[in-house]
Amino acid sequence: MLQTLTISEAAVGGIAPPPGYRVEQWTGETPEHLLASVAATRQSIDDAPATRSAVRAPEWTPEVVRAEEAEARAGGVEQRVAVAVEEATGLVVALTDVPLHPGDLTRTHWGTTVVMPAHRGHGLGRMVKAHLLRGLTADRPELEHVGTGTDSANSAMIRVNERLGFVTTREVVVVSRSL
Ligand SMILES: CC(C)(COP(=O)(O)OP(=O)(O)OC[C@H]1O[C@@H](n2cnc3c(N)ncnc32)[C@H](O)[C@@H]1OP(=O)(O)O)[C@@H](O)C(=O)NCCC(=O)NCCS
Repeated sequence: MLQTLTISEAAVGGIAPPPGYRVEQWTGETPEHLLASVAATRQSIDDAPATRSAVRAPEWTPEVVRAEEAEARAGGVEQRVAVAVEEATGLVVALTDVPLHPGDLTRTHWGTTVVMPAHRGHGLGRMVKAHLLRGLTADRPELEHVGTGTDSANSAMIRVNERLGFVTTREVVVVSRSL
């Protein structure tokens, strides 16, 4: 499912984190003290429907996180990240990111959104995504459209996007075979 948010039509507001969590945000490099739990949280993308079939997801380690950051930096990509941190442990348990490409500042395609299994269903996915969106609309007035793609079986992610104002613009069938 391809969903699109038209910034001029969206009512992008902030959402307070649920009790027991705080939100943090950065551009580019993950703060060192959050690096290990960012890698662990990113690994939960394995739970997304269809990940196993066609897409080779990396094994997320702190080194892989740093390598991806370096690659984005080298390409002039501004990588924005928002996370939910569990207050009791200081660990990241939810994360979302969006890249801003230097070639086209009017549109972008959302990156990852992922919540650790024990913390799903509390609104953290929507909260971190709303947080990044609010920042984008505040200081990127040239941004007009944000796209995102989700497996049609991923009702939770589709619902999160709908509640943020994304509308379904296209359904795509992906076919793969071994050669
Ligand atoms: C998708 C994901 C990020 C959602 O995070 P979350 O914090 O649990 O989401 P939220 O609590 O903010 O919202 C979930 C919404 O989906 C709904 N939902 C959850 N499971 C659902 C299901 N099986 N069918 C329909 N709706 C569902 C919830 O009721 C809620 O909607 P509501 O706000 O109207 O009540 C999380 O499940 C996850 O990390 N999944 C694995 C990784 C993944 O799939 N990432 C997306 C890849 S594109």
